[in-house]
Amino acid sequence: MSLADSINRAEAKFADAGIETPRVDAELLVGWILNLSRGELQSALISGGAEFTSAQREQYETLAARRAAREPLQHLTGVAHFRNITLEVGKGVFVPRPETEWVTGLAIDAVRACASPEPIVFDLCAGSGAIGLAIATEIPNAQVIGVEKSVDAFGYTSRNYAKLAPTNGRAILADVADTPNDLDGKVDVVISNPPYIPAQMVPIYPEVALHDPGLALYGGEDGLDVVRVVADVAARLLHPGGTLIIEHADMQGEAVRRLLLDKGWSQVRTHQDFNSRDRSVSAIRIH
Ligand SMILES: C[S@@+](CC[C@H](N)C(=O)[O-])C[C@H]1O[C@@H](n2cnc3c(N)ncnc32)[C@H](O)[C@@H]1O
Repeated sequence: MSLADSINRAEAKFADAGIETPRVDAELLVGWILNLSRGELQSALISGGAEFTSAQREQYETLAARRAAREPLQHLTGVAHFRNITLEVGKGVFVPRPETEWVTGLAIDAVRACASPEPIVFDLCAGSGAIGLAIATEIPNAQVIGVEKSVDAFGYTSRNYAKLAPTNGRAILADVADTPNDLDGKVDVVISNPPYIPAQMVPIYPEVALHDPGLALYGGEDGLDVVRVVADVAARLLHPGGTLIIEHADMQGEAVRRLLLDKGWSQVRTHQDFNSRDRSVSAIRIH
């Protein structure tokens, strides 16, 4: 069977399994096995310049079956691409999402606007480290600290920090509520993508419901339990004028604005994503 046939077969299998982007997933999987980017794979298909070895074909059959059973592609390849970085991911850690790349952009703008020559940034609920590490690599003069509670996730957080931000990043294993206080009042930007799904709303995608850790998804009855803690911890970390940015679900815009206003935050603003959905909130610490 040619490589093109293998991709077509995987595409059909993935479509039957209900995967929304069967062609993309088939190409990414085959490209990963051959160590080719998607663009390189596509040009190799045109020139006829790539084929599987028999070991690669066996690997492909196994991984395609696992993907068709709705295991996340990133768990099969062990990597997730996020903005300009490649993160190690797998079982036990949340796979970073495209919408978070955009929320991270808001934090990057806020850090770039800081007067400080070495802005200090906290990424609360760090998971793989995606947000904090994108900031640390895009703004090398920033000092970034990621806080993550899950021991399983923290293995990935700490390895990704060591690899991608060895000099300007630090990962801390702690509950957000126990974030160390040595930098209280000195931090420029706090960003968080906390768990925010209401407990009774189980996600429909098997990749999420079965493979993302529950601790990464669910935020209590209204989904905002950890958001409340993040808001309180950010209030002690930030200096006056510092910025807080929190990602949330599209139906939570008003509730999160209200929560922050009730806690005394200023300039509370909802930001919409490219689909015009409420996706994140920013606020400034005044006092
Ligand atoms: C939605 S995931 C986001 C991960 C990462 N920031 C990202 O955007 O890909 C939420 C993360 O918060 C962590 N978490 C949940 N509750 C926490 C808490 N109380 N303190 C610290 N981390 C927590 C979870 O383990 C998970 O890694």
